[in-house]
Amino acid sequence: MEDREISDILIRWYEENKRDLPWRRTSDPYLIWISEIILQQTRVVQGLEYFNRFTERFPDVAALARADEDEVMKYWQGLGYYSRARNLHAAARQIMNDFSGVFPRTREEVLSLKGIGDYTAAAICSFAYRLPYATVDGNVFRVLARLFDIDLPIDGGEGKKYFTALAQSLLDERRPDLFNQAMMEFGALQCVPKSPDCEHCPLNGKCLGLAARQVERLPVKSGK
Ligand code: ADE
Repeated sequence: MEDREISDILIRWYEENKRDLPWRRTSDPYLIWISEIILQQTRVVQGLEYFNRFTERFPDVAALARADEDEVMKYWQGLGYYSRARNLHAAARQIMNDFSGVFPRTREEVLSLKGIGDYTAAAICSFAYRLPYATVDGNVFRVLARLFDIDLPIDGGEGKKYFTALAQSLLDERRPDLFNQAMMEFGALQCVPKSPDCEHCPLNGKCLGLAARQVERLPVKSGK
């Protein structure tokens, strides 16, 4: 089937091209959570430093929950979006109080934590528990818009729904962790916003956007 072929190509590309990042070497939901919250606002290189310092000082949920908020904020200093750090701290306490200190294991429960929305819940559940939820971030929007030549605006409700369903249908349920990392890394390194190297892309024979000469135009934003 075509979908399986696409995900196989992406995963093979990922195995050969991925960056070696600490949150990819763990299945600890706590570390994955921290990395995803940091990466929502920061590039990988800068995020890496913050991730290492933060997780050295607060290596697990209990350590973070125990800390004073002031100290947590100190380790966040410079990253911005300070409500994210406050939410991390609050959610760590929520896990201690409501889940006996054990990181919750279902999407519903993970979503009940402060500051965790659809994207972060899918990332934690797929990377830590290999549950079949597609992570749809800006990189994934771009890859899908180009591959399937879709000009629905990615910043509208309809587009978001459409791309999420499409990512979910492509997801390789046997290895959701690899599939999701592969999609994001492919968007970050190969299917880049400006002047992507389509000539050397492993999906260039399947890319409808390339065939229609639309790659540079996609994805579309409504500009609202
Ligand atoms: N950006 C968001 N999540 C990421 C991840 N897991 N690896 C690299 N970049 C990311």
